[in-house]
Amino acid sequence: MNVLITGASAGIGRELARLHGMQGDHLLLVGRNATKLFETKYLVEQEGGTADVFPYDIGQPVHIEALLRATQHQSVDILINNAGFGLFGEFLETDLDRELNMIDVNIRALTHLTKTYAQRMRDQGIQGRIVQVASTAAFQAGPFLAVYYATKAYVLSFSEALTEELAPYGIQVTAVCPGATHTDFEATAGLSASRLFKRPGIMDAPTVAKLSFDGYMQGKTLVIPGASNAFYVFLTRLLPRQTLTKMSASVQAPLK
Ligand SMILES: NC(=O)c1ccc[n+]([C@@H]2O[C@H](COP(=O)([O-])OP(=O)(O)OC[C@H]3O[C@@H](n4cnc5c(N)ncnc54)[C@H](OP(=O)(O)O)[C@@H]3O)[C@@H](O)[C@H]2O)c1
Repeated sequence: MNVLITGASAGIGRELARLHGMQGDHLLLVGRNATKLFETKYLVEQEGGTADVFPYDIGQPVHIEALLRATQHQSVDILINNAGFGLFGEFLETDLDRELNMIDVNIRALTHLTKTYAQRMRDQGIQGRIVQVASTAAFQAGPFLAVYYATKAYVLSFSEALTEELAPYGIQVTAVCPGATHTDFEATAGLSASRLFKRPGIMDAPTVAKLSFDGYMQGKTLVIPGASNAFYVFLTRLLPRQTLTKMSASVQAPLK
């Protein structure tokens, strides 16, 4: 199978690439950092798979177009929209350009790639899979990571809608919702100044990737890796949204 993964140069995306490599899949690895993508390619090949590297910045529409052109003669059986990042801080102080870029990566690129590859799957009669990496953040608001949480709410809603729309074409859509996971995400978002990643029980990327992989390969429409994350999402359905927002604010508030 051909599997395209965005954000394959690190973290959860790299671990997903390795798992597909173990199945003998061919990986199309997308990210900005070519050196790290080639490291992932090496790891995939060690596991028994093959890989091509596509060093594109999907935060830029021209790069998305270039990626779509570069892959137009390769069928994609599984699309994994994993690339994404957050930005921690008080909304009045955070950098607007980074937040708009976050919306471009987490929402715009994901939507563009989903439409094009889903159309290609339909036109080529591929009974494919589309995996959208959202977050437990999708289930509530997140003070001090307000834009990030909102982008993930979009990803979850979008995925759930497409689950229904694409089912008649045999295309399976899965929303994967990890909780806090030790990757480069924490540093990129500037989260060292928050308690969020200082709590016990933070998962590691290989475990999150394996649970996610098992879930979407079984055809689940929603995968929440880890029992405590699943329990937390269950609680978000019981508690008033305002209470959840206040709880989130107290966990995520900048450390004094
Ligand atoms: N870690 C967590 O706590 C956590 C929790 C829930 C959900 N998630 C989600 O899981 C996904 C993977 O994150 P991670 O934790 O594995 O973080 P990570 O280690 O920082 O990896 C992020 C990946 O996204 C890629 N990326 C970022 N901007 C990009 C751009 N403009 N164009 C192309 N690729 C880009 C990065 O590659 P380059 O730098 O090479 O471009 C990198 O491969 C994200 O969607 C994140 O929101 C993470």
